[in-house]
Amino acid sequence: MDVGVGTGYFPAATLKRRRGTSSSDLESNGVFEHLTLVDLNANSLSSASRRIGEPKRTRCLVADAFNPLPLPLVDGKPEQFESISLFYLLHCLQGPPSSKGKIFAHLKHHLVDGGVLFGATVLGKGDFRHNLFSNGLMWFYNSIGLFDNWEDTEDCFVEALTAEFHEVESKVIGCSLLFKASKPRR
Ligand SMILES: C[S@@+](CC[C@H](N)C(=O)[O-])C[C@H]1O[C@@H](n2cnc3c(N)ncnc32)[C@H](O)[C@@H]1O
Repeated sequence: MDVGVGTGYFPAATLKRRRGTSSSDLESNGVFEHLTLVDLNANSLSSASRRIGEPKRTRCLVADAFNPLPLPLVDGKPEQFESISLFYLLHCLQGPPSSKGKIFAHLKHHLVDGGVLFGATVLGKGDFRHNLFSNGLMWFYNSIGLFDNWEDTEDCFVEALTAEFHEVESKVIGCSLLFKASKPRR
């Protein structure tokens, strides 16, 4: 499941790489059996799904990741996925970083025990400096409400992830935080 899929760049790029030159059988390539795309924006979902190009295996869900996802129950339990990605979604969410952690609390119920939740987000503060260009973009995007991330730090996301998962890894590259969490706390 990819949450905040936007243009579908990451799933499409991954599939393109894994397809290689000969086989288009993604299941036997171990990429995915089914893909669920989640976004607030229905137009993003349809263009992402087209770009990914696997309509039979792809389901689109218009939903707000701040709320429990409106997915059907499977045997009375939340539907679960082997992987859940969140690429460049968190910096778009409005509110302090502590409130963004609510998303992890909802999503952990959709991760199988051996699954992985992972992603990336642009931080506002940390042991790095936004360069002139990045600072200008940060200022512009935050002022028009496209980003709300001046207060976002690695520590606050690691803390929020650790509250919901037993295993959490993180790494800052430039001003982006890459994160990976597994073993959801049940
Ligand atoms: C910056 S784009 C990232 C797109 C893509 N993941 C990427 O990295 O290229 C953020 C996406 O998250 C979606 N989004 C923003 N807030 C959301 C929310 N609360 N729930 C679900 N999707 C949301 C936006 O509609 C947008 O498509």
